[in-house]
Amino acid sequence: MTTPYAQRRARVAQAIGANGIALIPTALERPRNRDTDFIYRHDSYFYYLSGFTEPNAFLVITGDGRSTLFCQPKDLEREIWDGIRLGPDAAPAALGVDAAHAIGELDAQLPKLMENRDAVWFPFAIHAGLEARVGGWLERVRARVRFGALCPEQQRDLCGVLDEMRLIKDAHEQDIMRRASQISARAHVRAMQRSAAMLRAGQDVREYHLDAELLHEFRLHGSQYPAYGSIVAAGANACVLHYRADAAPVRDGELVLIDAGCELDGYASDITRTFPANGRFTGPQRALYDLVLASQDAAVAATKSGARFTDPHEATVKVLAQGMLDLGLLDKNKVGTLQDVIEQRAYFAFYMHRTGHWLGMDVHDCGSYVEPSEVGQVSERRDPLSGETITNRPSRILRPGMVLTIEPGLYVRPAAGVPEAFHNIGIRIEDDAIVTDTGCELITRGVPVAADEIEALMRG
Ligand code: GLY
Ligand code: MN
Ligand code: MN
Repeated sequence: MTTPYAQRRARVAQAIGANGIALIPTALERPRNRDTDFIYRHDSYFYYLSGFTEPNAFLVITGDGRSTLFCQPKDLEREIWDGIRLGPDAAPAALGVDAAHAIGELDAQLPKLMENRDAVWFPFAIHAGLEARVGGWLERVRARVRFGALCPEQQRDLCGVLDEMRLIKDAHEQDIMRRASQISARAHVRAMQRSAAMLRAGQDVREYHLDAELLHEFRLHGSQYPAYGSIVAAGANACVLHYRADAAPVRDGELVLIDAGCELDGYASDITRTFPANGRFTGPQRALYDLVLASQDAAVAATKSGARFTDPHEATVKVLAQGMLDLGLLDKNKVGTLQDVIEQRAYFAFYMHRTGHWLGMDVHDCGSYVEPSEVGQVSERRDPLSGETITNRPSRILRPGMVLTIEPGLYVRPAAGVPEAFHNIGIRIEDDAIVTDTGCELITRGVPVAADEIEALMRG
């Protein structure tokens, strides 16, 4: 049975041409302090093509369909300290590669593998120093030209090929992403319930208490680590877009915004929920919350095969902008009609980010946001806020198997003319969607979004 990794390597071999060679390193280990490294995370491209998570590894794919892995050699002493290594002898059977060598042989083997190829493909601007290493290997091939060797004449960016492949998630990937989302959804439910329970018990609740609930649930279900630094933002902290889970008190009567998702087997999930710390929305909180939810509903309805990537954002902005006028966040006498608010981007004062991004192995996953078949159709527009001229290209057309987040929000910082009841309220609602033939599948709804349902699950 061929694995998804072998199938992907075969597609790369086809894409680089019969005489091409592709080089895919994994990530480096990074020191955190003195003898301690950051928790190791493989390179996503490398893992996508190998399923291999050890550090110090390098994959080579040639246009004839052969793949060669360089990996850490077996070493009893190192394995006592750092754990079991697969080793080159076992790698072909375990990973389906055609050959494997110790990583220490990379410099000796690569010039031989590159000889008589026409193009060298590797991910540009990802691995510091790789360009120079490729240069060194090419130099070694060139030294053999007078003995009849042919030296590659082209260096090509492999990112484009791999990004297009990764943009459409196959069944194996979708299955993992569904499971990652389910774990993350349970973690959000757990944090919500804990917040209300602790406040009911009169305890001093801190953001880190809720972060601890998230981490517990992630690990309990086998997630290796959070997909990104969890945001647990109490009260006004929710208006800081990249806030982290810190030590601020979670107060009765305020909202909590949690943006957190686990990584499972190399795939990210990315969920945001905003809930009342004590389990009951106040009137102004509920008014803003229902507006954000209505804007998310509009974005979900716009997420379907054949639509543009920007359609959900435009649907969101329309609903949010109308709501800002209706609730008095924006003054009609100053900003004009709904159309004016959208054209002049007046809504930007309260909604300053996009409504989504690709999601996959990377939380902000790779993949062009421009439709490749229309890349030459360039138009220009002047941005009303910055005055800059912006070059537009047609937005990507959504296809089944693409996965994206849908994450509208509203962030109300205190300012003159803004109703005080809304000051310091920050709300975001974020779900992960797989594009299907007929619409999209929301894979993160294991945690509810409706205000009434959130209140119900936080009750008693
Ligand atoms: N958690 C990062 C994001 O929502 O994009
Ligand atoms: Mn996101
Ligand atoms: Mn997020």
